[in-house]
Amino acid sequence: MLKSKNTTLGEYIIENQSSFQYSSGELSKLINAIRLAAKVVNHEVNKAGLIDILGAAGDTNIQGEDQQKLDVLANEKFIQTLKNREIVCGIASEEEDDFISINSNDEQHRNKYVVLIDPLDGSSNIDVNVSVGTIFSIYRRITPEGTPVTLEDFLQPGRNQVAAGYIVYGTSTMLVYTTGDGVNGFTLNPAIGTFYLSHPNMEFPETGKIYSVNEGNYNHFPQGVKDYIKYCQKEEDDRPYTSRYIGSLVSDFHRNMIKGGIYMYPKSSKASNGKLRLLYECNPMAFLAEQANGKASDGHTAILDLQPTELHQRVPFFCGSIKMVEKAEEFMK
Ligand code: AHG
Ligand code: MN
Ligand code: MN
Repeated sequence: MLKSKNTTLGEYIIENQSSFQYSSGELSKLINAIRLAAKVVNHEVNKAGLIDILGAAGDTNIQGEDQQKLDVLANEKFIQTLKNREIVCGIASEEEDDFISINSNDEQHRNKYVVLIDPLDGSSNIDVNVSVGTIFSIYRRITPEGTPVTLEDFLQPGRNQVAAGYIVYGTSTMLVYTTGDGVNGFTLNPAIGTFYLSHPNMEFPETGKIYSVNEGNYNHFPQGVKDYIKYCQKEEDDRPYTSRYIGSLVSDFHRNMIKGGIYMYPKSSKASNGKLRLLYECNPMAFLAEQANGKASDGHTAILDLQPTELHQRVPFFCGSIKMVEKAEEFMK
C-alpha cells in the first residue's frame, strides 16, 4: 500500500482498489468523481471574496445567468459530477428536500452505491473568508440493483457506511476520507490541481485540551452538558481547556483530530435534537472519528448504531478524542 508523501490521491485510489473485498472498481470511480467535484467546488469557494466584482447571489451575471448562493452551487456541482459519471444510483443532499433516484437502464450502469452529502458545511462562514467544507457518506444500496432506489437505501445505520469523508476548504484545501481502513488526508496543490497524501493514518490523540461548542446556547443546555462545560473550565489537573469554535463542523473536527479535542452540538431547550443532521453530517464524521481512534455519540449511544428514521433528521452530537467524549457522556448520565 502506497503511503509515501509524494503519492497522489489518484495513485492511492488505484493502489488501494484491490484491497476492498468484492471490489469491481466502482467505489474507486466514485471516490475519483468526488475528487473531481472537490476541485470544482474549491475553485468556486476561492472566488467567494470576489463576489462584489463577479456578482452576488440573486444578481444576473454578464452571460445573463443568475448568480447562485455558494451552497446551492456546490450542491449542483457535486450532483452533476456524480450524475455525469454514472457511478451512483441515488443521491441525498442537505440542499434537496427528497433523495434523487438515478435511473440507469443500461446494464453496465446498474450502480450499487448511494451518496449522501452536505455540499457546503459552515456556509455562514463564506462571507467572512473562514474555512468551510463538504461532507460525504457512501453506502451500498439495500434494494435490488436495476430498480429505482427507495428511502430505505438512505436510512441505513452509519455502521453500514462503505466510505465517508470531507473536504476542508481552508488555508489549504484537503480531502480526508476513510474506506474503513483508517483515515488519510490529501492536500491540494492548487498550482497543478493535484491532491497529495500529506496526512497518512490520521488519528485523534487519546485526549486533548480543546472543547468546541456554541456557548451562546449555554443557558438552554441540559444540566449534564452545563456541568461538563464547567469541568472543562475548571482549574485542575491539565485544565482549564481551551475553547475553540469555528462554526463549521468540518473545520472544528479537522483541528480537533490533529490537536486533540471534543466537538459538541447538544440538544437544548430551543432545539430538542440539536442542529446537526444525522445522515450527512454526524454519520460520516462518526465513521471518520472511529476510524481515527476517536469516538462519536449522541451523549449516550454511538452515532453509528442509531437507526435513522428520516432523511433530514437531527441528532445531538459529541465527537472527538475518546477520553473526552467518554467524560462528557459520564456527565450526561
Ligand atoms: P451548514 O452550513 O451545512 O448548515 O452547517 C452548519 C453547522 C455546522 O457546520 C456548525 O458546526 C454548526 O452548524 C454551527 O451552528 P451554530 O451557528 O448554531 O453554532
Ligand atoms: Mn453542515
Ligand atoms: Mn450545508
